[in-house]
Order: sequence, then structure tokens, then C-alpha cells
Amino acid sequence: MGKRLLVTGYGGFVAGSVVAQAGTEWDVIALSRSPVSDGCVRIVPFQLDLREQDRLSQVFDETQPTAVIHTAAIANIDYCETNQDVAEAVNVDVTQQLSELCQQHNARMVFCSTDTVFDGTRGMYVEEDTPHPLNYYGETKLRAEHIVQEQLDDAIVARLALVMGFPLIGAGNSFLARMIASFREGTPVSMPENEIRTPVDVVTLGRALLELAGSNHTGIIHLGGDTRLNRYEMGGQIAKHLGYPQDLVQPTNSNAMPGRAARPDDASLDNAKAMQVLKTPMLSLTKALDLILETAEQ
Ligand SMILES: NC(=O)c1ccc[n+]([C@@H]2O[C@H](COP(=O)([O-])OP(=O)(O)OC[C@H]3O[C@@H](n4cnc5c(N)ncnc54)[C@H](OP(=O)(O)O)[C@@H]3O)[C@@H](O)[C@H]2O)c1
Repeated sequence: MGKRLLVTGYGGFVAGSVVAQAGTEWDVIALSRSPVSDGCVRIVPFQLDLREQDRLSQVFDETQPTAVIHTAAIANIDYCETNQDVAEAVNVDVTQQLSELCQQHNARMVFCSTDTVFDGTRGMYVEEDTPHPLNYYGETKLRAEHIVQEQLDDAIVARLALVMGFPLIGAGNSFLARMIASFREGTPVSMPENEIRTPVDVVTLGRALLELAGSNHTGIIHLGGDTRLNRYEMGGQIAKHLGYPQDLVQPTNSNAMPGRAARPDDASLDNAKAMQVLKTPMLSLTKALDLILETAEQ
């Protein structure tokens, strides 16, 4: 038996990229709430809600994973704000149990956190900067980070910037796919001018997470692209790159919309550490868009 990689949230955007690119190096154990039938001998599917503690524990007993990439979370910021019990159960309590299971089974954990742990007052955050989340989603992810770090010596917390791309498997939560659908219809798209980000493409991200799973890096690492810009500028550049009129993208302010949870203004991540320690390069926006389009054509 080869190295076994357990991936949570298989039906999600980031997990799809990880599993699609796992290649022959890993036998993948894919956990999802939805039925998983891939027909691929290297993917062992399990259908469960991660909150089913006994079943999750059984999966570890049965599969003895070498490494875990924990992507599953409720990543909808506004949903987390109004459904705090559910957000806590999925984002915090599940991570707690997974950390305990990783410790018991001596499995390495790669935990997917977020740039939203920062308050966005400064930007270009390095791994040592002190997080200060503005919304409940960010709070749950930060608490989960602490649990992972306290429980496990051999874990890495990967803080992801805004993730951009098309789902490599399944549907996934892709703003790019929604944006292109609007461009095709000629419908304008509003993009927040106040949110400055360092978007990372989902293909590079999948590769980086797999590299981290197979490495012995510990601590925290920021996985962000090499271009820092606001989301309105990003929308314009995407439209231009894909040959759509740039005026289909209109500026908005996400923190001026009533009833929405607060978003950090400048949550850009400094990717110097990732550039230094990973073989997978973090890309500029243009190169990332080229990679996304090339991968979609294959
Ligand atoms: N996308 C981004 O821009 C971004 C940026 C920064 C950080 N992140 C982090 O990266 C990770 C992956 O994000 P993503 O974009 O892949 O999110 P996503 O597409 O929404 O996928 C998350 C997955 O979590 C799983 N999940 C398990 N239990 C759940 C529950 N009770 N309710 C809802 N979902 C549940 C679901 O997988 P199943 O349906 O297979 O069960 C879901 O598809 C998350 O930890 C997120 O915090 C994402």
C-alpha cells in the first residue's frame, strides 16, 4: 500500500483540485456528505457528515491515513455570521476531532485556513502577524488554527488567499465560473473595490497543498498569488484576459451593504515564505489565468 491521503470536503472547490492532481503518489480517501463514486481505484470514497464523530473515527481506523488535507468548512461568511452554532460545529469542533485523530494515528495534518483571519487594516500580512478576525467565519477559522497547532507538532496551517478558478472535479464554489456566465449573457458584475486581495489559482493551490502534505514543513504558510489588487481591478483584468468588455465589471463596496458580515479591506498575503520553501511557484494573476484556462481545456 502506498501513501494514503485523506481529503475532507471532497465535494468542494479546493478539495476537487487536490484530488484531481494527487496523481499516483497518493491513494486518496475522499470524504464527502454527497455520494462519491469516482470509479478510480486510487480513490476510496466515504459518504458522511464530518460531525458524525463515531463514523469519522471508524474511517481513520479503517484507512490509517498518512496525511490529511482538511479543506471542509462552511466558508460562506454571511451564513457563518447568522448560523454561528453550525459554523462552530463544522469549522471548529470537526477540526478538533480531526486533530485528535491525526495525533492518535500519527497522520500529518494540512489545515486550510484563510486570509480572513486578518482585519485588513494593513495588508501584505506575513505568517508572524497577529490575526484579528472581523467576522465569525474568520473567528472560527482562527480558533481551528489554534487547535491544530496546540494538538499537533507535525501540522501545517495553510492560510489561503481568495481562490480563483474552475472546479476540477464537481461543482465547487467558483466566483470565476459565475462571473463568466454573467459576461456571456452581457450582464454586469459588481466587484468590491474595498477588498484588496492576492488571489491564488485553484490549480496552483492544489499542487501546493499536495506538496505540503508530502513535506515536513510545520507552522503557518501563506498561499497567495503574486499580484495584489482589489477585486474590482481583478474583475476588469479577468474580463480583459478573456476578451470581454471591461465595463461589464462595476465597482461596489462590500462593507456598505446592509445586513452583511464585515469583510477585511486589505487581506493581501505576503507569499515570500511559500516562494522560498515550496517547489510549486505562486503565480501572477496573468500567469494564474493562463494556467486555469490551459487546465480547463485538457
Ligand atoms: N474559496 C476561497 O476563496 C477560500 C479562501 C480562503 C480560505 N478558504 C478555505 O479553504 C477551504 C476550502 O474552501 P472551498 O472554496 O473549497 O469551499 P467549498 O467549495 O464551499 O467547499 C467546502 C466543503 O466543505 C464540506 N463540508 C463538510 N461539512 C459541511 C457542512 N456541514 N456544511 C457545509 N459544507 C460542509 C463540503 O464538502 P462535501 O459537500 O463534500 O461534504 C463543502 O463542499 C475552507 O476551509 C475555506 O475556509 C477558501
